[in-house]
Amino acid sequence: MINRIILNGTSYFGSGSRTILSEEIKSRNLKKAFVVSDINLVNAGITDKVLSILKNAGIEYELFSDIKPNPTVTSVKEGVQKCKLSNSDCIVAVGGGSSIDVSKAIGIIMTNPEHVDVVSLDGAVNTKNPAMPIFALPTTAGTAAEVTINYVITDEERVKKMVCVDPHDIPVVAIIDAELMAGMPKNVAASTGMDVLTHAIEGYITKAAWEMTDMFHLKAIELIYNNLEKAVNDKDMEAINNMGLAQYIAGMGFSNVGLGIVHSMAHSLGAVYDTPHGLANALLLPYVMEYNGEVAYKKYYQIGKVLGIDNLDLTKEEIIEKVVEKIRNLAINVGIPQKLHEINVKEEDLEMLAEKSFNDVCTGGNPRETSVKDILEIYKKAF
Ligand SMILES: NC(=O)c1ccc[n+]([C@@H]2O[C@H](COP(=O)([O-])OP(=O)(O)OC[C@H]3O[C@@H](n4cnc5c(N)ncnc54)[C@H](O)[C@@H]3O)[C@@H](O)[C@H]2O)c1
Ligand SMILES: [Fe+2]
Repeated sequence: MINRIILNGTSYFGSGSRTILSEEIKSRNLKKAFVVSDINLVNAGITDKVLSILKNAGIEYELFSDIKPNPTVTSVKEGVQKCKLSNSDCIVAVGGGSSIDVSKAIGIIMTNPEHVDVVSLDGAVNTKNPAMPIFALPTTAGTAAEVTINYVITDEERVKKMVCVDPHDIPVVAIIDAELMAGMPKNVAASTGMDVLTHAIEGYITKAAWEMTDMFHLKAIELIYNNLEKAVNDKDMEAINNMGLAQYIAGMGFSNVGLGIVHSMAHSLGAVYDTPHGLANALLLPYVMEYNGEVAYKKYYQIGKVLGIDNLDLTKEEIIEKVVEKIRNLAINVGIPQKLHEINVKEEDLEMLAEKSFNDVCTGGNPRETSVKDILEIYKKAF
């Protein structure tokens, strides 16, 4: 058995760590940064916390902010055009998964121009050249896009979230600075935080999991369980910092082993209704955990220990029930809705959604062999 781990060359952690950015750019002899950050972050003054570092260090930059959550092929194409015209030699991504993913797609196309159509990057693609150097500064504690080898772009024509898997897209430097995350509105902090938990749990029970990734995922689950509520409900700075760390640690794991059908099903909701990624995962996670319990229950005992369930005499059915209950309560405590009809999903679409989900790239990693019929049943239960 051969296992592979791909991580950033350099990463920094801790409140205020973004100040290291200029030194990292200069030490690589790079001259101009194409800064990618969504418009809400620009308007909220968060992007400026990074732009001011570039300004003070005399590093030239150009800002691209035409990005929406669940970013699109159109946005990437526009970004590529602007990046070319800007004559930049590196990319600075400031934002959540949406901004970082657009940066990755732009960075890949800049050095692999034969993929300018964007859609040919769907799935696992062996591009020829590493992306332009990307410096990633996440503003959500969620996707871990700063350390993963994936990016997710919505193809509007096919109504599909393309999960693009390519080691060439990994940022050369990741800077996890909790001060950039502190301004998240409560609903964004809750849903992106539950995305981290979904990565940790799906990555822990996925088919390709092994000792090293198990270590990352269990640690991430512990950090999330102890910090998510404080980070969301009390805006406790130490807890926000720990959530930033948890997202990165979970990313070190799942990026290298894959996920499961919570993500497949969430991708369909994102493509069809533009549902925020973390919210879709958060709502679906307990239902899919119940379904996967049948094959993943041995690992649920380990998750249970981390969640404070230390009764090892529990039966298979009991451990599934108790672990799922803890996860569901955590979601409720941070304000996550529990039914799909509450987030405007239409009952008549469930069959189409199940079909799309079954064909998602994450389905292959699910620990339990699944089918369109099984996925439809889970959607119905969650409806
Ligand atoms: N690359 C990967 O490995 C990976 C993994 C999982 C998900 N994703 C993708 O990432 C995207 C979701 O990213 P996300 O969940 O980080 O959210 P996001 O980037 O879509 O941001 C959500 C909203 O929160 C706002 N926001 C972000 N940070 C903020 C802050 N600090 N203060 C105030 N507002 C803030 C943004 O402006 C935006 O309106 C989806 O498209 C998803 O499919 C990528
Ligand atoms: Fe995710």
